[in-house]
Amino acid sequence: MKKFLPALAAAFFVATTSCAAQGDMTLPTVSTIDKLSVMEALSQRHSSRKFVDKNLSPAQLSKILWAANGINREDGKRTVPVALGIYSVEVYAVTKEGIYLYDAENNKLKLIAEGDHRALTTTGQSFVSKAAVNLVYVETPAAWESAKRTPPRDSQIAFANITVGAMVQSVALAAQTEGLGNCVRGSINRDEFKKIANLSDEKNILLAQSVGFVK
Ligand SMILES: Cc1cc2nc3c(=O)[nH]c(=O)nc-3n(C[C@H](O)[C@H](O)[C@H](O)COP(=O)(O)O)c2cc1C
Repeated sequence: MKKFLPALAAAFFVATTSCAAQGDMTLPTVSTIDKLSVMEALSQRHSSRKFVDKNLSPAQLSKILWAANGINREDGKRTVPVALGIYSVEVYAVTKEGIYLYDAENNKLKLIAEGDHRALTTTGQSFVSKAAVNLVYVETPAAWESAKRTPPRDSQIAFANITVGAMVQSVALAAQTEGLGNCVRGSINRDEFKKIANLSDEKNILLAQSVGFVK
């Protein structure tokens, strides 16, 4: 890990950012040094539903996204496993400033829509609009176009759900190391989010996860 991180940093990351930025956002290099061990983070994992409306630091946001779907090896593979090597899950970050698509290759957030759309990621749970970031996990069938072997559609969806399971746990542990709360959510306003995030019809919103400072 120690060996390839500097190379990764050089290849993929630029160490400047600004949370208040309009437009795309370059994320800072992720540090893998933590105060909490994996076992300690696991022993503390729980869902939180009382958030304070305060932005994460750029380093915290970068860490959460890297845990969800970041590149952790020189061959471009990620922190979470995927079936047949096909990355068919996109991660959207919905903050006070806008809706962004996580671009792991460039360690960037690509602006999709400006403004505070956090409430659109829920069907009515009020804590969601206070959580600093709401991650929305979206299955993209088009990812299979580059596959050597294409599994049936129901398997593609099952595989994506399994990967999202790994993503949410990864994020929960990373959040715990920062003292942040998280809540996985199946209750999402899918129609509204699809519209505002300009998602094409074939994409499937699988799950959401609120992450932020807790009361
Ligand atoms: C697939 C899935 C969907 C969930 N959907 C919601 C949800 O919509 N809203 C919510 O508040 N919690 C949701 N949860 C969180 C569960 O309620 C929570 O994990 C469970 O009550 C156990 O509590 P714990 O996470 O603190 O151990 C969901 C969890 C999973 C795995």
